[in-house]
Amino acid sequence: MEVKTKSLLDNMIGVGDMVLLEPLSEESFIENLRKRFDHNEIYTYIGSVVISVNPYKSMLIYTPERVEEYRNRNFYELSPHIYALADEAYRSLRDQDKDQCILITGESGAGKTEASKLVMSYVAAVCGKGQEVNKVKEQLLQSNPVLEAFGNAKTVRNDNSSRFGKYMDIEFDFKGDPLGGVISNYLLEKSRVVKQPRGERNFHIFYQLLSGASDDTLKKLKLDRDFSKYNYLSLDSAVVNGLDDATNFRTVRNAMQIVGFMEDEVQSVLELVAAVLKLGNIEFKPESRCNGTDESRVKDKNDLKEMCELLGIEQSVLERAFSYRTVEAKMEKVSTTLNVAQAYYARDALAKNLYSRLFSWIVNRINESIKAQAKTRHKVMGVLDIYGFEIFEDNSFEQFIINYCNEKLQQIFIELTLREEQEEYVREGIEWTNIEYFNNAIICDLIENHQNGILAMLDEECLRPGTVTDETFLDKLNMICAEHQHFESRLSKNSKFLNDHSLPHCCFRIQHYAGKVLYRVEGFVDKNNDLLYRDLSQAMYKANHTLIKHLFPEGNPAKVNLKRPPTAGFQFKASVGTLMRNLQTKNPNYIRCIKPNDKKAPHIFTESLVCHQVRYLGLMENVRVRRAGYAFRQAYEPCLERYKMLCKRTWPHWRGPAREGVEMLMADLQVPAEEFSYGRSKIFIRNPRTLFFLEERRRQCLQDLATLIQKIYRGWKCRTHFLLLKKSQIVVAAWYRRYAQQKKYEKIKSATTVVQSYTRGWQARKLLRELKHQKRCEEAVTTIAAYWHGTQARRELRQLKEEARNKHAVSVIWAGWQGTKVRREYRKFFRANAGKKIYDFTIQRIMQKYFLGLKRTLPSMSPVDKNWPARPYVFLDGVHTELRRIFHLWRCKKYKSKFTEEKKAVYEEKLEASELFKDKKSLYPSSVSQPFKGDYLEISKNPKYQKLNSSFDEKVLLADVVNKINRANGKGTTRILLLTKKNVVLADQKTGQVKASVPLPDLTSVSVSTQNDGFFALRLKEGSASAVKGDFLLSSEHLIETITKLHHIGSTASDREQLNVDISDEFLVQFKQDKVCVKFIQVAPKNGNSVSCKRKNNRLLEVTVPASA
Ligand SMILES: Nc1ncnc2c1ncn2[C@@H]1O[C@H](COP(=O)(O)OP(=O)(O)OP(=O)(O)O)[C@@H](O)[C@H]1O
Ligand SMILES: [Mg+2]
Repeated sequence: MEVKTKSLLDNMIGVGDMVLLEPLSEESFIENLRKRFDHNEIYTYIGSVVISVNPYKSMLIYTPERVEEYRNRNFYELSPHIYALADEAYRSLRDQDKDQCILITGESGAGKTEASKLVMSYVAAVCGKGQEVNKVKEQLLQSNPVLEAFGNAKTVRNDNSSRFGKYMDIEFDFKGDPLGGVISNYLLEKSRVVKQPRGERNFHIFYQLLSGASDDTLKKLKLDRDFSKYNYLSLDSAVVNGLDDATNFRTVRNAMQIVGFMEDEVQSVLELVAAVLKLGNIEFKPESRCNGTDESRVKDKNDLKEMCELLGIEQSVLERAFSYRTVEAKMEKVSTTLNVAQAYYARDALAKNLYSRLFSWIVNRINESIKAQAKTRHKVMGVLDIYGFEIFEDNSFEQFIINYCNEKLQQIFIELTLREEQEEYVREGIEWTNIEYFNNAIICDLIENHQNGILAMLDEECLRPGTVTDETFLDKLNMICAEHQHFESRLSKNSKFLNDHSLPHCCFRIQHYAGKVLYRVEGFVDKNNDLLYRDLSQAMYKANHTLIKHLFPEGNPAKVNLKRPPTAGFQFKASVGTLMRNLQTKNPNYIRCIKPNDKKAPHIFTESLVCHQVRYLGLMENVRVRRAGYAFRQAYEPCLERYKMLCKRTWPHWRGPAREGVEMLMADLQVPAEEFSYGRSKIFIRNPRTLFFLEERRRQCLQDLATLIQKIYRGWKCRTHFLLLKKSQIVVAAWYRRYAQQKKYEKIKSATTVVQSYTRGWQARKLLRELKHQKRCEEAVTTIAAYWHGTQARRELRQLKEEARNKHAVSVIWAGWQGTKVRREYRKFFRANAGKKIYDFTIQRIMQKYFLGLKRTLPSMSPVDKNWPARPYVFLDGVHTELRRIFHLWRCKKYKSKFTEEKKAVYEEKLEASELFKDKKSLYPSSVSQPFKGDYLEISKNPKYQKLNSSFDEKVLLADVVNKINRANGKGTTRILLLTKKNVVLADQKTGQVKASVPLPDLTSVSVSTQNDGFFALRLKEGSASAVKGDFLLSSEHLIETITKLHHIGSTASDREQLNVDISDEFLVQFKQDKVCVKFIQVAPKNGNSVSCKRKNNRLLEVTVPASA
């Protein structure tokens, strides 16, 4: 259970709830209000009703923090506040799904409008948030400045007096988020438009427009900023202290924009406001007619013209409407002229109608904007800010109507309050005791009864043909209502007022629930009729202005309605009836506003004024009704929570159900049983005394508890402080000891270090001295020893030197002696044979040296190496050459001995070739380096020549490709030349077919040239078989080898002669029968030319050979 810190009953100034007032009397009631007012407590409860006393100063009790404080708190939980009521209403709307209405009543200037705004702002602050919701909230809140500008005015009682009744339904969804709203307005005080009582002003908007609009706007509206130029604006209090009309105009324009007025709509509204001002300036003058009557004429047409321009009305039409009146009856039209008074009446009626219709249009336009969009079922909170009960010196039709409305509200208040009280008792199971109270239904009946009610009679009088005046109406009242106990009139049948001089003849008095009010009948009939001449409404309808056309639909000639429009009283009664029915379906919440003084000043509490209001608001009755049953009730939980400290068994915690706890508490406190009753969820306390007894006990107990808490707290604080001190002291001491020891230790340490350093220094110096002494001793010893050894050594050296000198001298003398002796002997010996011996020895030595030198410088073992060292002495010339030759032969022999048989044969062939060709044929030198390969065709291996090879028994010694020179033309054909030990064979190169085979014995000689060519002629034995075709002339690239091989075979064969080799540049060959001379001619070498052979004639075959380079 949450413990609440501040309650209604805490720090109470007076009593927060009048129900608890003890003793209950009017004086104590007002005293309680005054006391609270003096302490800035402007709100006081009567049960769930909030009394609000206007503080006339701004209070710091409407801050967002306050909103938070009251949010979701129970009604009696905190000190009285309008927020508590708003919160209660909002929560039961949201959580219990009950439609609510907040009825704000009180006289003019009591703070109703402010209270309604506070309620709205509280609800806006606590309900849901979100872009859409905020927009709705803003529109609902901003509707206030617009309505106040057009519907409020400065009066003597209130600088911002609402001159209309307002009821606003705010609609919420199931979550409690606002969806929109509907505003109903009641009876705007339109007479104010044309006339204001002394010290009062017209509606704010006129002053705001003239002060706040820009020059440009004013120009467009054909207005002047000067108030004094307009008849309808009273100059009295045109400027009101604390009201900034210019700023308010901007606020209103801004609010209109937020609410959703279009720019052209705002402009139209301002045009109409300007038109009303212009209308007031139209004046009339009488113009006599021939029939003797006066007819009105517009005096200065300038204002009329400007007004017509503003509204787009034809000037002549309006002008005529101010001079004539057309009455239509039974299809007949009768036109009558208007005199000046009637023209003024018509003008003012038009102004009043124009303005009041404009106001209704604005309300409807706002409703259009703030209309809830969602079609879902919604919950409604109605806020009623209606004019309060009015008792003036001169009370007219308006006051009658207003007071009628308040009478109805009082009735509903009584009904609903009692009903609620009753319902609560039933709900809680408490026995219901009947409560006596005044029921004002009888007064309501006096006014609204259909047959003989005052309003019905007024209507009857207005509709009655014949002369109807206010007096005839009063006569009627005097006749019909005379018996009524709440009706008083001097001329009524009720004779008891005949001598009542406070009751003038032209008046009647009604004893309202809030007091007696005297009404002057003058103007009742007129005001109830509320007539606007048809000519005027038709003139308005003809206007070329959408809004004004819309405001006067009855002016449409197509819809001429001869029926009279409903009277003002009838309309009001109907709308009040609707309002009452509406309110009855809702849960009511009351705010009763009280005005503390007439001066609109803070801190002044005029008791008589307050007393009057307390009386007519029926507040005392309210308290009595509330106290008739039980004065105070509280749910068990908060009750137990509040008083549990009064009983030991419930303090500090009660574990059981709250009701049992409360029962235990009451029993323990011995509260008499008749003083309270236990409901289902609440305890009901009959007498405030009991509550105060409980509160007093609680206060004492709280004091004791506070003392106990103080005691414990102080003890705890001292103990904690002591422990803290102790702990700190230990810490400080520890730290100090540590510090002192540290200091001491540092001192000892530094002293020790000093002593140590002195001792060590002393020891070190001592040691140093000893070491130095020792070193000096050692150095001295060493020096002495060195000197001693040096002396010894020098002495020894001197001795040795002496000895050596002596020895040397002996040996020198000895050697000198020996030498002399030897020389003497040698001289004798040399002179006999020393010359020859020396010569031999020298030659021997030279030869030895020569041979050893030659051995070292011998050339290489290559037989071709031509090097040989130079001879050292000329006399060795012959020996040297001989030795060279011997060496060459020896190395050749050595070289030869390394040869194999094959190589030997090759070299033999090479040798043979050399013998044959060296220096004889130019081709020879180039052949020396070429090895004799023999089988160039690899005939035994090549399968192509297998057959050719197999046709010989002997080994093929040479196989080569040669050119066989055609005997006839000298051209060459390639042939294979094979040489065996027995034959020379020529075969076809391609087929291997043997073309010619010449047995070697048939070969007589071979002829070759001396030149660098490969031509050779095989000359055959005459008469042999081979020689049939003649000798062969061939050309080979291996000429030297081929000829050498042929020659070698010949030289080794035993059966024949050696083959001749002719080397000549001209030789003869036998071609068949011809002897042809083959001639070799050397030509100068040219690019690309080679050996060519040409048969010149029968005798000559010429071979041209390019000269070798
Ligand atoms: N709660 C408040 N705190 C401060 N000032 C307040 C409060 N209530 C009212 N007033 C002051 O009192 C003045 C009149 O209040 P308000 O207009 O609400 O009276 P009213 O009851 O609506 O009167 P009327 O019936 O003439 O409209 C306000 O202009 C304001 O200066
Ligand atoms: Mg008001």
